[in-house]
Order: sequence, then C-alpha cells, then structure tokens
Amino acid sequence: MCGIIGYVGDQSALDIALNGLRRLEYRGYDSSGVAIVGAGALRTARRAGKLANLEKLLAEGPDMDPMPGTTGMGHTRWATHGGPTDMNAHPHTDCTGAIAVIHNGIIENFAQLRAELEARGHELASETDTEVVAHLLEDELGSEPSAGADLAGANLAGAAAAGAVTGGAGAVVPPVAGAAAAGASDGGPGTHPLTSALRRVCLRLEGAFTLVVLHRDFPEVVVGARRNSPLVVGLGEGESFLASDVSAFIAHTREALEIGQDQVVEARRDGVTVTDFAGRIVEGRRYHVDWDASAAEKGGYPYFMLKEINEQPSALADTLRGRLSADGAIVLDEERLSAQDFRDVDKVFIVACGTAYHAGLIAKYAVEHWTRLPCEVEMASEFRYRDPVLDRSTLVIAISQSGETLDTLMAVKHAREQKARVLAICNTNGSTIPRESDAVLYTRCGPEVGVASTKTFLGQVAACLLVGLFLAQVRGVLYGDEVAAYVERLQRMPDLVRRTLDRLEPIRELARELADAKAVLFLGRHVGYPVALEGALKLKELAYMHAEGFPAGELKHGPIALIEPGLPVLVVVPSPRGRANLHGKIVSNIQEVRARGARTIVIAEDGDTAVEPYADHLIRVPETTSLFAPLVTTLPLQVFACELALARGLDVDQPRNLAKSVTVE
Ligand code: M6R
Repeated sequence: MCGIIGYVGDQSALDIALNGLRRLEYRGYDSSGVAIVGAGALRTARRAGKLANLEKLLAEGPDMDPMPGTTGMGHTRWATHGGPTDMNAHPHTDCTGAIAVIHNGIIENFAQLRAELEARGHELASETDTEVVAHLLEDELGSEPSAGADLAGANLAGAAAAGAVTGGAGAVVPPVAGAAAAGASDGGPGTHPLTSALRRVCLRLEGAFTLVVLHRDFPEVVVGARRNSPLVVGLGEGESFLASDVSAFIAHTREALEIGQDQVVEARRDGVTVTDFAGRIVEGRRYHVDWDASAAEKGGYPYFMLKEINEQPSALADTLRGRLSADGAIVLDEERLSAQDFRDVDKVFIVACGTAYHAGLIAKYAVEHWTRLPCEVEMASEFRYRDPVLDRSTLVIAISQSGETLDTLMAVKHAREQKARVLAICNTNGSTIPRESDAVLYTRCGPEVGVASTKTFLGQVAACLLVGLFLAQVRGVLYGDEVAAYVERLQRMPDLVRRTLDRLEPIRELARELADAKAVLFLGRHVGYPVALEGALKLKELAYMHAEGFPAGELKHGPIALIEPGLPVLVVVPSPRGRANLHGKIVSNIQEVRARGARTIVIAEDGDTAVEPYADHLIRVPETTSLFAPLVTTLPLQVFACELALARGLDVDQPRNLAKSVTVE
C-alpha cells in the first residue's frame, strides 16, 4: 500500500519522482504528491485521485518548471487514516513548511502523539496518522516558524486543500536552530541532523512504517526509515534513490541495497549510510536486479494484466529453470536449514493471503500426497490470532508475491517466535518475508504490475509443487528418479500453458456476452476447488461482480439455493484419467445445476466427452497430470474475468479500493 520514491542527485527531482510514481501507482492510487527541495525552498504539490490529476496540476502550474531542484520525493497513496482527499494526500509538512514527510504503513499511536503535539501548539492540517511525523521532526530539529510561513503558498493546509502547488520563493524559513544549515553532519556519515532526528522520532512510533523525509535547508540528503514496511535503496552514479520497490528506479540503476528492520538510511549523491534506530552503522545487503525497465512496461499491450497473462509461459519456465542439480536434487534459492531440519518436520502449515492463499490450497494436495505429512493452509491474517500449535518440527511455508504483505509477515514472525522453521515462496528479491525466513524459493516471474495476480499465481503453484517434491526428496519418501520425473513433467508445463492461452478466444467471447450478468458461481473438486476460488476472486476484484467459488460437492448443502434460471456456473472438471471417481461426481454436479436452470460453462480437458451433453459452453484445456492441472485450468478463468471487466469499461490494472502490496493489517 502506498508507493514511495525519494531522490538526491543531479537530475530534475520532479521528473524522477513522477516517473517513479508512474511505476509505483499500482501500489495505491487514491492520491499522489511530490515534494522538491531546491533554490532555497521546499515545494509540495498533491492531489486526490490518480497520478494523472497531479500531473495535470503541475502542467497547469505557474511556469514550465514549477518545482526546480535535484532533491525530492513522491508518494502515491492507498488511504488508511483520512479519506482520499487533497488535504490527506502526502507529502505532509510541519508548521514551518520546512520539513516534508511521506509514509507507507500505519502509525498506531498517532492519536496520542497528535494530542501531545497539539498541546504544544502544533497545528495539524490533515486527518492522517502520517502528519505527526513532520511535527515531531520539527520539535527534534528546533525549527522556528518564519514570518513568511503563511505567505506565498507556505500555508500548506489551505493551499493543499485546493490541490495547489505550495511553497515557492516566498516560503523562506530560517535555518534549523543549532544545526549547520549548510548541511554539515554532526559527526560523519549517518549523523546528519535530519538523520539523527528521524532516528529519535522512529523510536517514538508504534506500528508499521516506511518514512522518507526532506528538509528545505538540507538539499544534500533525503532520509528514509522502515519498520515492517518496504524500503529499498537504488545506488546510482552520483545519485541515490529510496523506494518502495526497485521498479521506481530501475530505469536509472539496477544496483540495489536492502534496508533491514528498524533501520534508517541517509541517502546522498555520493552514497548512502545505513544505521539502526540506535545510530549504529549497519551493513545492508547489495544486490543486482536481474530484470530491466522494459520488464515493467506495457510492451504494446493496453493493460499490464493482458501482458502478464501472456507472459505466463516464460514466467513459469523461469521459475522452474535450473531447479534440478546435477545429482538430481531439487534446489531452493536460499537454505539456512540443514537436511536434518527438513527431515525432522512433522507438520506443514501454509500461510498466505488472497491469490497466494489459493496457491497454498493447491499445494496442500501435493504436499500431503507426496510427503505424507499433514498440511494445513491458513489465511495469514487469521494465523497468529488463533494460537496455532507450532514447534521446531513445524514447517511454515509463507507464500507472497510482494514479500511485504503485512498479514503474512506477521504470521512468519509469529511462527519463528514459536521456533517453527519458515520457508518463503516469494517473487521479490530483497523483500522482507524472504529475509525473515529460514529458506527461500523465488518465483522468478519478473515484476507484476497489474494489481490482480496472474503470472505470479502460476509461479507460486509451480514453486509449491517444487517445495513438495523437495520435502519428499529430503525425507526419502520419493526416490530421486521419481522426483526427477516429476520435475521433467513440470518443465513441459510452460509449453502447455502457451498452447492453452492460444485457444482462449471462446471464453473471451463468452465474457463479453455475460458482461451484464449479476453473479457467477465457480465450482471445482480436488485441486479444481482452489482454482474455482481463484476464478471467483478474479471476477470480484476486476469486474466488481458477485462471484463465489464452492467445492462442487458442497453445493447441495446450501449454495444450490442460489441457482436460478440463466445463472452462469463455471465448473472446473478434473481429468477423467487421473481422478476417475471425482470426474463422475462432478459430471453429476453439472447436471444438478443445469436441471435448475443454470447456464453451465465447463472447463474440461481434451478428450473428455462425458461432459459434452451437459455443457452449455465447453472450454477445452490440454491433458495434464492431475496435480499440475491448475497451471492450465486457471488460465481461462483469468481471461474470463479480465475480458468481462474490460467489457464493463473497467480498469483491470487498478481496480477500485485495491493496491498491489498490502502493507497494513
Ligand atoms: O504480495 P502477496 O502475494 O502477499 O499478496 C497477497 C494478496 O494480497 C494478493 O494475492 C491479492 O489477493 C491479489 N492481488 C489478487 O489478485
């Protein structure tokens, strides 16, 4: 939630911030704003709504370059505290207008801090939790309000309410009391007054936060801090970037640095210094980003989602590449556990949210089948609150595309506190969940910008299957040649995915025809059940349509009452070859809903003739192994939801109320 970019260098900070925000907008799009330090002033501009509104405001500004300066930052918001208004848009400033703050997360003790600040005479202009940080910094730095602070747009509250560009030459505030206004540090890198002040403020904050701050008198630095919220550093030549994720600066540098929990980063033109909240210098882990800016562009598609659906064969192939070592063993990416630790596992929990949770539900079938270990799948947001029984023999598998989902991160922390081992399946190098885990397997799907997960779901399913095989291998439940045979079959799946995508025109046509439907039901059995849940989630989030997924056998216990004439019911049919007993049952379920007037849309594999008499619409997918079937049966459901939403005139990349990376609980 919320996208953040900070910059210090020699380029136009406004251009860098706006370009960064274009790449980060998928993280939240309720409002956006920028703050730039230059020519002795701090200028801010912010606007409710999508980034285009801010760009329009700036384009209509007083001159060609309304915000000169080479130090700055930008923010795109997913609202938590305070509605999506101009006034609540970030950046937020202190009483003097010298300090600007952007934030991702929730400051849980903001009400108490706000009361304290107001008692000391501070005037807070917004309803956000964020604004307290600007005023706490003001107290720490001892800024004096200037006589000109309410002139020339420096009255930020009033001007920002109209969505105006604020600041300007008139907003002249005296240098910070006690600190060298020219930006001298108080004792070397990492001890700049703004850095030290932010450290002290962070110690007062509770909750989750990534903060980036600027000061009008300190154009030489931009300072960031994080706790339970994402922040990465981009290391350029003579320039430094702070961002929620690398996509914001990938056009400028592919050299990145991880920032750990409870750390503060001081970014300067000549490099960065990272300290913990106590001021001790810490080493960050540097890494090279293995994709370039073009991977995060639409590449000729009108929507990222369409591009990402079509990238699934290569995303899957990349996730599976090189997973079998020369001696036939499955290879994870990071393993901080011994083979004995894995052999000692007596129970598996999978924790995840949303689409990743559905991947986890599929994993359960494979893990239990291959390893004979009990496996429970739990929504991460519920996991720690029900006090699950965990110990050092429990393996918790955390699945997260972003690696930053706070519900999942908190589940991971809880599991580790209980001494359980944690294995992460993640798409984002340098993110928090892999760092907090004992072992990692990366889904190498490349950046996913569309808010609805598509290619990373396939990557997660494939990664789960690999983890299942890995466990079976280390525990000796499957022989090496059996594991290798499964992996070889898995490696043929990208081709089947390509062939499936090539034949989905009929479901596109059907989606357009059903654009006005009131609701759609999705049914499945075995691994087809989580696929049905995923199909329903896609339709809800993209088309804002009532959609439910059910196990087909459960329908008769209540939900069948929903069936009325013409209701579209989409059924994911298991292979008649692999699960013959299930196949016969689901054919009966199709007949039951059809007998009550439902319009049946049947997803079945080639050669399954038994479903033909009962399918109003038949969508064919290639034959595959039962446990691998979700890798193809999910595709028509993704395309169905996407096409139906487009037919309704909706933005499939940025559905309402959502954000790509959910960093609040
Ligand atoms: O980044 P994560 O995989 O942890 O995200 C979890 C969910 O928020 C996510 O899968 C969400 O449900 C999808 N965007 C839905 O398409």
